[in-house]
Amino acid sequence: MLSSRNRKCVIMVTSFWSVMKLLESSWSKAFGFVAFLVAVIAAVLQHLENCETTKYFMMSHDMKALEGVFRQKNKSCFILGATGETGKELLKEIVERKLFSKITLIGRRQVTFEDKAFENLVQEVVDFEKLDDYAAAFRGYDVGYCCLGTTKAKAGTDGFIRVDHDYVLKSAELAKMGGCTHFHLESSKGADKKSGFLYLQVKGQVEADIEPLDFERYSIYRPAVLMVDRQESRPTEWFARKLLGPISSLFPTAMSIPIQSVTRAMVANTLIPAREKVEILENKAIYDLAKAIEK
Ligand SMILES: NC(=O)c1ccc[n+]([C@@H]2O[C@H](COP(=O)([O-])OP(=O)(O)OC[C@H]3O[C@@H](n4cnc5c(N)ncnc54)[C@H](OP(=O)(O)O)[C@@H]3O)[C@@H](O)[C@H]2O)c1
Repeated sequence: MLSSRNRKCVIMVTSFWSVMKLLESSWSKAFGFVAFLVAVIAAVLQHLENCETTKYFMMSHDMKALEGVFRQKNKSCFILGATGETGKELLKEIVERKLFSKITLIGRRQVTFEDKAFENLVQEVVDFEKLDDYAAAFRGYDVGYCCLGTTKAKAGTDGFIRVDHDYVLKSAELAKMGGCTHFHLESSKGADKKSGFLYLQVKGQVEADIEPLDFERYSIYRPAVLMVDRQESRPTEWFARKLLGPISSLFPTAMSIPIQSVTRAMVANTLIPAREKVEILENKAIYDLAKAIEK
């Protein structure tokens, strides 16, 4: 059985060899060109897979022990966006692990849960347009997770900025005022406040605007395309996931990431001691960190 790395090498070498052989005969030039393309694409994906530095990879914490210690501290947390794909998965993860003595979902609507494991959750329904009126909803939490977000297609340009920047920043401000010490923000791969793309610019801007709030610890996650069977219909994302599915089995972090890796990395990063006050976890770092806390 070949390792993933060896498989990638075999693909690249075979493709290259094929190019050389096939180009010898004129009738198969087209196939040679295709093989050449495959080799180039494989090389690009291999590069994307390895171009991010991942200082979390070498981590050697005993996660089970850390979970036990954390549990005893009786900490509380809130989740923003717990009705979304990442938020739902994150909630499941922290409820199953019984990490917090109190978990509050802050959102624009009440949700019902069948499962008894969720019966002790607290829910705060807020009007995000008047968040100042709901400062009490953010008071008294040690940890805050923000998985809030919309799309330009759904909310329009102004609506997207309002949710992904204004709501997120205001929530972070209230959380800080309310005593939150560790704020986790789900941002996006490529987030950059100087980007020419609205999505990446807004993500980068909100990351930067939260920093001066001076949380004791501020963790930013920058996942690539989330691999998840989304309930809501988003044709472009659906198409991207179908296209990336086969690629991700060979190059798991080049362009995408399983949603469980994001939520497990958030949990693992809650448990391990801070290395820096502000930490940015790029896609590969998220993937590697998540492996530390496999079920
Ligand atoms: N999708 C990707 O491939 C991808 C990749 C990288 C980063 N990200 C980022 O990761 C984050 C989470 O993504 P996701 O796909 O898990 O999110 P999602 O499934 O779209 O869920 C978004 C959450 O935000 C809430 N929300 C949306 N509009 C709102 C509004 N106007 N007022 C109040 N709440 C609102 C939703 O509440 P309701 O349930 O009430 O609507 C839901 O809880 C987002 O910031 C996204 O930009 C996504």
